[in-house]
Amino acid sequence: TILILDFGSQYSHLITRRVRELGVYCEMYPCTQKIGELNFKPKGIILSGSPYSVYDKDAPRVDKEIFNLGIPILGICYGLQEIAWNHNGSVAPCKNREYGHAMLSIIKYRDCPFVNKLFDGLEDSIQVWMSHGDQLDKIPKDFKVVGKTSTSPFAAIAHEDKHLFGIQFHPEVTHTPLGKTIIKNFVSNICECQRNWTMESFIDKEINRIRQIVGPNGQVVGAVSGGVDSSVAAKLMKEAIGDRFHAILVDNGVMRLDECQKVKKSLKDHLGINLKVVDASKMFLDRLKGVTDPEKKRKIIGNTFIEVFESEALLIDNEAKESHGKIEYLLQGTLYPDVIESISFKGPSATIKSHHNVGGLLEDMKLKLIEPLRELFKDEVRELGKVLGMNEELIWRHPFPGPGIAIRILGEVTPSQVKIVQAADNIYIEEIKKAGLYRKISQAYAALLPVKAVGVMGDKRTYEQVITLRAVETTDFMTADWFHFPYDVLKTISNRIINEVKGVNRVVYDISSKPPATIEWE
Ligand code: XMP
Repeated sequence: TILILDFGSQYSHLITRRVRELGVYCEMYPCTQKIGELNFKPKGIILSGSPYSVYDKDAPRVDKEIFNLGIPILGICYGLQEIAWNHNGSVAPCKNREYGHAMLSIIKYRDCPFVNKLFDGLEDSIQVWMSHGDQLDKIPKDFKVVGKTSTSPFAAIAHEDKHLFGIQFHPEVTHTPLGKTIIKNFVSNICECQRNWTMESFIDKEINRIRQIVGPNGQVVGAVSGGVDSSVAAKLMKEAIGDRFHAILVDNGVMRLDECQKVKKSLKDHLGINLKVVDASKMFLDRLKGVTDPEKKRKIIGNTFIEVFESEALLIDNEAKESHGKIEYLLQGTLYPDVIESISFKGPSATIKSHHNVGGLLEDMKLKLIEPLRELFKDEVRELGKVLGMNEELIWRHPFPGPGIAIRILGEVTPSQVKIVQAADNIYIEEIKKAGLYRKISQAYAALLPVKAVGVMGDKRTYEQVITLRAVETTDFMTADWFHFPYDVLKTISNRIINEVKGVNRVVYDISSKPPATIEWE
């Protein structure tokens, strides 16, 4: 295992991605992690970049103990400066902040073969990506310069005996084309890690872990939505403990067209998961009557969901007690980015939306959490789904918000408005798939505006509602661009919606990016 210590750089998670892509398992911890308190022994450590300067009074500091472990350490950007700082090097602001491409000249040493290892197999000069305002202006004692650029005389340094390496540039970003080779040199050649971390090995390890935690009779309950995370987590539980995992799908009345049936078919019929579908749509729609405020809608749906899920879990618990054991665990599809977010040295982020997790749920039952995906990134979850035999449609499904189309009907949610959005959205997604664009788009949906527009159909004047189409491209959903649709696809979609969906006489396309707009309209 490689330990990555995060100083808060925007690229930190990319280091984790690159190491895992090489088949080497790694974990990221905040830079303040006490080394004596880790529950594993790393074979090497990578220090990330940071928005701080090492000479700042409140600069984050690493546990000095890492330099006594005798294992290789690679410092990237701020990480290089932190290594130098701890070895009496000197760091100062650059005359000009360096941001962008640079050429790194590699320097090799005949008499110090170990310091050459980081750049093994590379040409004398390579393209690298820089993003820094500080740099070394004095090299610490006994370090060698192994790389320089026209502006950074100490752009890469190494210590032969201590196995310390520092680089000013970012090998983890794609703008450093040979960055992957550098990271591979570090983890494979310098730290001597085996490249044996695969999805298959992850599945074996995780199934064993789940079996050990849950025991021979333990039972687990979990909510599923048909989204990729909860489906993959559920399938993994099914593989580990069979029908002792109880999945619950709550029909809240604001799902997409025939969604409950479709999810049931995928999870129960296709994946063999022990699934109970609870139709609570009337209860949800009754409580949404007359409500127009988006946050109120969210609260009502979140609270009602907890209520329904809790009472179903209690029913299952009562049945379970008679046959085997009681339910002790709650499955959650938490992913690694959420974990990183909550353990960041800057403190948990305030931006996590409250009902993304069901914290506080089932307090009386005193359930313990089980989170089999907490080490994985989204694309690794998809890969896992593939290895577990899930079909492509499930694996590549766009995300769908918990409050469903309730936040895509602007204004009051009524059964007739639900029907209109469902029909329009279904046509929209059908045509996107037909045009082969579904995987290019990160998220797409139709929303219904609470205004009426005049139109003409045949000889008659119409006065009906407006559907707005949204499609965005994004990697993190924090920022997003609107998708550039081919006009003929938009034309087909608009024609079909206006012709086939009663109550709609106008279709518009939303060309707002995030920020300042958000992905959802409410
Ligand atoms: P926004 O609208 O904030 O959406 O740009 C970003 C992503 O979050 C989803 N979203 C939600 N998901 N409950 C959820 O589970 C919510 O209340 C909620 N609001 C937005 C949205 O679909 C997009 O993927």
